[in-house]
Amino acid sequence: MKNNILVIGSSNTDMVIRSERIPAPGETILGGEFLMNPGGKGANQAVAAARLDGKVIFITKVGSDIFGQEALNHYKKEGIDLRFAYTDPSCPSGTALIMVDAKGENCIAVAPGANAKLSPADLDRAEDAFVQSGLVLMQMETPIQTIQQACKMAKAQGLRIVLNPAPAAKIPADVLKSLYLITPNQTEAELLTGIKVDDLSGASLAAQALQKMGVETVLITMGSKGAFVKTSQAEDFIPAEKVKAVDTTAAGDTFNGALCVALSEGKDLITATRFANKAAAISVTRMGAQASAPFRKEIDL
Ligand code: ATP
Ligand code: RIB
Repeated sequence: MKNNILVIGSSNTDMVIRSERIPAPGETILGGEFLMNPGGKGANQAVAAARLDGKVIFITKVGSDIFGQEALNHYKKEGIDLRFAYTDPSCPSGTALIMVDAKGENCIAVAPGANAKLSPADLDRAEDAFVQSGLVLMQMETPIQTIQQACKMAKAQGLRIVLNPAPAAKIPADVLKSLYLITPNQTEAELLTGIKVDDLSGASLAAQALQKMGVETVLITMGSKGAFVKTSQAEDFIPAEKVKAVDTTAAGDTFNGALCVALSEGKDLITATRFANKAAAISVTRMGAQASAPFRKEIDL
C-alpha cells in the first residue's frame, strides 16, 4: 500500500489552437487547428505516472459541469484512484487556453475555476490517501495553503515530498524545508532564486541557492538539453533524448510523473531522471498534454 504515489493538484480542460506562430498582442491569425484535451498540471502528472504503471491516488477538485465530469471519467479509465477527487457545484472546472506554434513551443493562460477551491479541509478529509502513499507529488495550480497543509500531513506520515513549482510563485519557507525534491524548469528556477539559468553553471548556482533555502535536492529541467540534478553530495547533468518536437505541452508534467514512478520503485535519482527524460522525450513528439504521455511498454527502466 505504501508505494502509492499521491498526486495533489489541478485538473483542467485544455482548449488548444495549433498554428504557424503564436499571435502578437492585438493580432488575429487565421488557419489554425483546434483540439480539446484533458490537461492541468496535476492531472497530467497523475496520468503520466499511471500510464507508466505507477499506482496513483489523485486529490483534485472539479466543477459539476460536463468538463469536470468528463475529466473524472477519463482519469478513472486511466486507472487512477479517485476516492479523494472532489466536485464543487459552485464554480466551473479549470480551463486552459493554449497556443502551439510550428516549432512545438506554446503559451498558456489558465482559469483555475474549481482548482482554486481545493482547500486544506479537503486534505483533512483525505487522510487515508497520505497513510496509503510513499511519495506525494504537487505543483502550484492549487492554493498555497493547501500545499502547506499537504506538506504537514505528508511529513507526519513520513512521505517523500516532490514539488514541481509550476507555474512559478513565491514558496513559503516551511514548504521548502519539508521537500525531498524540487523540480523547477529554467524559468522557474530563475524566478525562485533571481539567478539566470541558461547554462550548467547557472543551474548549479540556482540549485545551490535553493538548497540554502532549505530544499534537500534540486532537479532543474532544461528543455531539449536535459536535466540538472544537485544533491547534498554531488551534481550531475543527464542529457535529453534527441527527438523532433511537435508539441512540448506537458513535457515537464510527463517528466515529473515518470520521475516519481521510478522513485517509488526504489530507483536512485539519476536512474529515475534518465527514465523521466525518456518519457518526456516521447511526449514532445506527440500533440496534447495527457494524450502525449507514453505507456510503460514504450520505455525501459
Ligand atoms: P512544459 O512547460 O513544456 O511542460 P517545462 O518547461 O516544465 O515543460 P522543460 O524543462 O521544458 O519543462 O522539459 C522537461 C523535460 O522534458 C526536459 O528535462 C527533457 O527531459 C524533456 N524535453 C523537453 N523538451 C524536449 C525536446 N525538445 N527534446 C527532448 N526532450 C525534451
Ligand atoms: O503543463 C501543461 C498544463 O498547464 C496544461 O495541460 C494546462 O492545463 C496548464 O495547466
